[in-house]
Parts: sequence; structure tokens; C-alpha cells
Amino acid sequence: MPISELRITDFRNLAAAELAPCVQGLNIISGDNGSGKTSLLEAIHYLGSGKSFRCSTPHLLIKNEAVKFSIFSQLVSNSDHLLPIGIERHTEGRVALRIAEKDAQSVAELAQILPVRLINSQSHQIFESGPMHRRKYLDWGLFYHFEQFLPVWRQFERVLKQRNVVLKQKRPKYELEPWTNELITLAVQVDAMRKQYISLLEPIIAELAKELLSIPQLTISYDNGWNTEQDYDALLRQFVNEEYRLGTTQYGPHRADIDMTSNGVSIKHFLSRGQQKLLICAMILAQGILFNKLVCKGLVYLVDDLPSELDLHSQQKLLSLLMRQQAQIYITAIEADTIYQAISDLDDVTMRVFHVEHGKVRRID
Ligand SMILES: Nc1ncnc2c1ncn2[C@@H]1O[C@H](COP(=O)(O)OP(=O)(O)OP(=O)(O)O)[C@@H](O)[C@H]1O
Ligand SMILES: [Mg+2]
Repeated sequence: MPISELRITDFRNLAAAELAPCVQGLNIISGDNGSGKTSLLEAIHYLGSGKSFRCSTPHLLIKNEAVKFSIFSQLVSNSDHLLPIGIERHTEGRVALRIAEKDAQSVAELAQILPVRLINSQSHQIFESGPMHRRKYLDWGLFYHFEQFLPVWRQFERVLKQRNVVLKQKRPKYELEPWTNELITLAVQVDAMRKQYISLLEPIIAELAKELLSIPQLTISYDNGWNTEQDYDALLRQFVNEEYRLGTTQYGPHRADIDMTSNGVSIKHFLSRGQQKLLICAMILAQGILFNKLVCKGLVYLVDDLPSELDLHSQQKLLSLLMRQQAQIYITAIEADTIYQAISDLDDVTMRVFHVEHGKVRRID
């Protein structure tokens, strides 16, 4: 659900920021280096996921010398119903979550009602870093598409951990057996969900890749973490001695990976950095399109520092695609003019422009 009102207190350098963004359309956040633009997106991201996208030490998010931060927002449903939500985090680690004036139990509840998708310079990690980033990309969509994905995945991780303890401590095989059996059941479920999700996502990415980059016939090649052709059960039994030797489970959905290929060639071998960035945007947008089609409307896009590495033409194409999603979009830029230029060819753009200066936010349009 999009945000109609946002109040941030003592988050990073934002001591007391308040804004009323446009619910559908573009919210431009301009300001000098260090003014607080990324912090503003980070606060929205934190509210919708309970996580920062640039720091895994939450107490660093609390403004220096403050004892807690809080982020409150009023969300708007399709039927114009208002839903207040909030998150508060104290220096000693206590977290309070609120939905509709009641305590919420987990950030997953917040994530269900405020789904956010981020595009920033780190999005590149999908291609450049290890498979974990590509699994994270996939699993974002799985979380929203399959209600059972999160519980199944969490159970898989628990069982995997237990199985690894048995392998590492070289305990007898009869102790491994029950964990192996449970692991197989869960792995097959995770794999089936991932396959189904990829089959839905692939044609949308292919369409966007053609439009944005003129790449013909883009396909997602999926490695499920074991040999797709082989029975997982048989594989685990075949390599059990090797796993005992290495002390960990070598095969399974925790080792899955995806690659983008065109005519059988991995695109990372022939796309420039800027083109890769554009393709990553297409991949993220494709998830948003699928989300709107199958789950609900109301995904919020956060775009930090769009212009870096994208030429004006690419920026124009990307923004035009983003605007077609009829979503709420936040986009940062040092100068709002760079965004005006990128949307100059678009008709009827609904937007609001905010300027951030030393952690203070004001509307300037
Ligand atoms: N816990 C904190 N308390 C106070 N200030 C902080 C805290 N953490 C970070 N800052 C400061 O907040 C400021 C805003 O950072 P932010 O990354 O949001 O800037 P920005 O506007 O995105 O800049 P740029 O254009 O360079 O990307 C920085 O000066 C940073 O040092
Ligand atoms: Mg920034």
C-alpha cells in the first residue's frame, strides 16, 4: 500500500522529517551530498522490511545522541481506507511494531502491507556478487507469491543447520537419516515454488529486456542447487561420505542460482556495466509487474541515485517504464532538474518534489 503521510524521528540525520508524498506517481527527493536523501529512502525501506539496505548494525541508524528512532506512516488502501503503521527501535535493541494502533508481532506483517522494492547502486550485486544475492532477489517474489514460502524456507534452514551439525561432528548415519528425509521434503517444495515463480517472471523480464536493451530471447537459466535432472534423494545418498568429509550439506536450494542468458550465452559476458544496471532495473520492475498482477497493487519503488551510470536516454526509458506501473515512486537526485529532464517527454506526470537540507525535508513544487 502506498504512503500518504510519513513521519521520521531521529533516524540517521533526520531529526524530525515529515512529508505527504503523492500516492501514485513520482516523489523526487533532491538535496546535496550528505543532506539525508538516502536516509529518507532507508527509513521507508526499514518500515517495509525491518532492515536497512546499507547497514546491518541497527543502532547506527539511530541519530547520534538520541535513544531511539521512530518511523510512522499512514498507508492508503485501494478503497482509500487509511492504515497507520509504525516501527520504533531503541539503542538497547528493543523494537516496537504497530499496525492499525495494535502491536504487531513480526516485520513480515509490515512487509505484507508495505512491500518495497529498491533500485540503487548496490542492485548491481545481483550480477557481480555471489549467488546469495540472486537467491535473495528470487525469494523476495516468492515471499509475496506463496504464503507457505516463508515457513517452508525457515524450516528448511533449521533442518539444514541440524543436518550440518551431525555432518560436522561426524555423528553416525542413523542420526543423519531423519534430517536428510525432512530436508528432501522441504527442498522439493522450495524448488517447486522457485520454478513456478521463474516461469511467471521470465516472459515479463524478456519483454522488458527487449524494450529497454533490445536483447532478443532473454531466458532465466535456473540451477536448483543440485543437478536438476537428478533425484535429490539419490544425490544426497550418493555423496554422503563427501559431505561427512566436508562437514556441510553440499547440495540443495541453499546453493541455488540463476543466470540471465540470451541465445544460450550468459548476458554478463556481453553487456556493459550501464546495460547491466538497466537489465537489473528490468528484473526488479518485472517482479513489480508480476506482484501487481497476481498479489495486489501497491508496491512502492525506491530509486536511489538513478542517474549514476545511466545516460539520459536510458534514464528516460526507465522512468517511462516506472511511470507505467502506476505505483508510488521515490527517486533521489542531487538536482531535481536531472529528473525533470528524464521525464520531459512523458505526459501527465503526477509528482511532488521535496528538498532535503541538513536532515530537514520541505516540499518545493
Ligand atoms: N546515526 C547517525 N546520526 C546522525 N547522522 C548520521 C547518522 N548516520 C549517518 N549520518 C549522516 O547522515 C547524513 C546523510 O546521509 P545520506 O547518505 O542520507 O546522504 P545523501 O543525501 O544520500 O548524500 P549523497 O548525495 O552523498 O548520497 C550523512 O552526513 C551521514 O554522515
Ligand atoms: Mg545518497
